[in-house]
Amino acid sequence: MRFIPVILFLLLAVLSLSLCEPRAKARSRADPLPVARPVPFNFPGKGLWNLIPSFSDLVRKVVPGAGEIFFLSKNVLAGTPSKVVSYYVNKVCGIASYWNVLKPNYAPQEADLHWELYSDNSVVSAPLKDPSPFIESKGFNPDLNITILVTGWESLVSDKLGEDVIDSMRKAYRQRETENLIVFDAGRFVNSLYRWATLNALWVGEVLGNALVHLSKKVNNPRIHLIGHSVGATIVGVAGRRYHGSTGEYISRITGLDPAMPCLDASIGLRKGDATFVDVIHTNSGVLGKREPIGDADFYPNGPVALPPGCLNVVCAHFRAVSYYVESVQPGSEDNFLAIRCGSIDEYNTKKCSGKRIPMGYSTPSYVRGTYYLETNAKSPYGQNSV
Ligand SMILES: *[C@@H]1O[C@H](CO)[C@@H](O)[C@H](O)[C@H]1NC(C)=O
Repeated sequence: MRFIPVILFLLLAVLSLSLCEPRAKARSRADPLPVARPVPFNFPGKGLWNLIPSFSDLVRKVVPGAGEIFFLSKNVLAGTPSKVVSYYVNKVCGIASYWNVLKPNYAPQEADLHWELYSDNSVVSAPLKDPSPFIESKGFNPDLNITILVTGWESLVSDKLGEDVIDSMRKAYRQRETENLIVFDAGRFVNSLYRWATLNALWVGEVLGNALVHLSKKVNNPRIHLIGHSVGATIVGVAGRRYHGSTGEYISRITGLDPAMPCLDASIGLRKGDATFVDVIHTNSGVLGKREPIGDADFYPNGPVALPPGCLNVVCAHFRAVSYYVESVQPGSEDNFLAIRCGSIDEYNTKKCSGKRIPMGYSTPSYVRGTYYLETNAKSPYGQNSV
């Protein structure tokens, strides 16, 4: 019953958008990074509509939040083709930003943002601005490289999901002990609405980028690998650009795990050039995740599909990229996912492509370029080359 308003809103959204869809400003690659501002953008004319209090109140009440978009994608529209889910989610975002009625529940301050260093038995938390607590802690090994995981919005959708992503990554890296693992649970700070998360992803990404500049000054071996899931991929992309803007150097590697698509301004999303090497794993193509190739190397397990084998809904699919990556981190599983470079899934399926098989995930070599295809199992272990 609680979805009746949401459905009403969807109809309303589509109707109004078909009358007057706001045009997104195309921004070319060469344009400078937009200035971050954690405020909703203004659209001329929306003021008029806000004069009708009953209307904006209605919209405010029924616009779904991130959790509801997830829930909606998962349950209410189960059985609906994923293209339809994607279409509606995007319409909701479009209309929501058009009316400018979505105010953040909680506007983060830079001082609120923290990241955490995970080591054997301890977790050290530090303000994003100042990584010295990490560097001074026993858990930090200055001789090792640094991997930083940035989560998207999962932790606000369900504590369980957020914990799963962080926990599984932490366990996998612990078996390896070749990197310092730092987690920035951005989901805690990009809460409230997805559209709002978009605007704040830019701001949070710039704060992170500046923090990386500080961090790299304090360690001798600043080989940094950023991993972003979902909206986290947008955040690390922005951070990589900011880092380059400030230092003239590049972050060594950025891995995007099913980078988020809906509601996000494509011009701020992760793309090649944000780091020396950008690799991407797509598992919910065209719905909650991006479909088009954006990195130096883009991996399409099972092709550009909305649902990988073993997933019945798009939420499961959106998290599969994390599961694949985590599996590849485990020692001995580096080559579980071997992929072949190919122009399209059809060519792959008809065995038109040959060439060297490249590991997807942790061990992807930084020289690979192009789109890669492979198949996966429906259940763990997902890699078909696992022993
Ligand atoms: C750090 O990363 C570089 C580049 O991938 C690698 O060559 C080096 O062995 C790594 N260092 C350690 C201590 O693992």
